[in-house]
Amino acid sequence: MGSSIGVAIVNGVPNQLPLDSRRTLLEWLREDLGLTGTKKGCDHGQCGACTVLVDGRRMNSCLSLAQLHEGDEIETIESIGTADNLSALQHAFVTHDGFQCGYCTPGQICSAKAMMQELAEGWASAATDELTKAPTPTVEELRERMSGNLCRCGAYSNIIAALQDVIEQDAGSQGASA
Ligand code: FES
Ligand code: FES
Repeated sequence: MGSSIGVAIVNGVPNQLPLDSRRTLLEWLREDLGLTGTKKGCDHGQCGACTVLVDGRRMNSCLSLAQLHEGDEIETIESIGTADNLSALQHAFVTHDGFQCGYCTPGQICSAKAMMQELAEGWASAATDELTKAPTPTVEELRERMSGNLCRCGAYSNIIAALQDVIEQDAGSQGASA
């Protein structure tokens, strides 16, 4: 009887997980599947450059073994937008100069996408004053919620401006459709 390794869905496509149980999710995505948009920075869970979405939640792919993701839906920067069709977040990063070298940017964008969902769901953070109320996207909240994503170019204030822009756009469109 042959053994079988399961599949994970990566950007909507089923992919056989690697046979090597030591392979990290980051190595599998980059080296086996060729999805090099996800970056390796520290490889120790400290910088957030390798952030991807797993079942909609952000995760440092360098810290997770690929074989643990049987049946999971994994989303990488490649599925969020393209150069010809930027997502709202990517567009805002360009508009607000939210990067210099760009190495941290895929992780920042993936992290920001899930962070905005966490905010919308009312998750509290260490910067939330009132735990009984929905958190508001203040600069302090956004900094705290994005603190797992380091930027050695120091584009932090522009990244926060980009996030605020998208949050305002979302609020505006929800207000218009309400
Ligand atoms: Fe994964 Fe730095 S490469 S956190
Ligand atoms: Fe260079 Fe963030 S833009 S590390």
